[in-house]
Amino acid sequence: MTKSIVEKRSYSALAEIYDEVMADVDYETWADYIDEIILEHNPEAENLLELACGTGTVALSLEELDCYNITATDGSPEMIEQAVRKGEKVHSEIHFETMNFLDIHLQEKFDVIYMIFDSINYLHSEDEILQLHNQVKQVLKPQGIFIFDFTTPRNSRKAIQFLHNHQKEISDDILYYRQSSFNGKNRIHTNHFRIVKTDSADKSKSIIAEEIHKQKIYTQQEMEAIIKKTDFTILQAYDGFELRPAHEKSLRITMVLQ
Ligand SMILES: C[S@@+](CC[C@H](N)C(=O)[O-])C[C@H]1O[C@@H](n2cnc3c(N)ncnc32)[C@H](O)[C@@H]1O
Repeated sequence: MTKSIVEKRSYSALAEIYDEVMADVDYETWADYIDEIILEHNPEAENLLELACGTGTVALSLEELDCYNITATDGSPEMIEQAVRKGEKVHSEIHFETMNFLDIHLQEKFDVIYMIFDSINYLHSEDEILQLHNQVKQVLKPQGIFIFDFTTPRNSRKAIQFLHNHQKEISDDILYYRQSSFNGKNRIHTNHFRIVKTDSADKSKSIIAEEIHKQKIYTQQEMEAIIKKTDFTILQAYDGFELRPAHEKSLRITMVLQ
């Protein structure tokens, strides 16, 4: 296999095939879960801000409920480009914008700010997580809530089995290949994506893009200890997609803060 393009920024090349890569993720259920949490903790909420919205699938699903005004942002312009494209197809009124969640510059204040799919795991230090909370606080209304989830070391150990050496055909000539590893010592979970193109004439394969994503994996105790240093109160730490408390075997924990 030849390699014609060097490593790319996270979620640049991947953006175009992201929805195919995530085809097995049940985003509708995820959107329903966010809605359930909102009904439980801030039922009057109308104005939502999504951080790290990716290609906008959850925001678009929440919009279908017809009860929220939504702004959705992501740090990757390529992911936002895909989100805007999908939004236009369904005449969405969501305002999509490229924005680093460590530097949120919006005038409006929101009832709910949410960020899903372990996006916070892209922050590798306590200082960055504190900065995120500080930024969120600037655009959250006083009684507003901040919802985010993160994955645990237990999840990384289990997930390696299906994440590692995973490949999928995206079209006749494009496939993606993922290698995944977890370092239990520094708790860095690495996903290495390669996008491979097959030449239609001679069937030779070449890597046209690759991205290496590194996520820092936190325990519940570590995450809660960091949050205690912010001005937020923990309303709940939920287990996965349930409305019951997280526990030591939780694979994904959804935090609700006020
Ligand atoms: C695992 S994806 C999740 C995307 C989307 N929430 C979903 O559920 O499909 C992580 C997302 O976090 C975004 N991201 C990572 N670091 C970011 C940052 N500092 N600011 C804004 N977005 C960021 C990436 O661009 C990517 O879209």
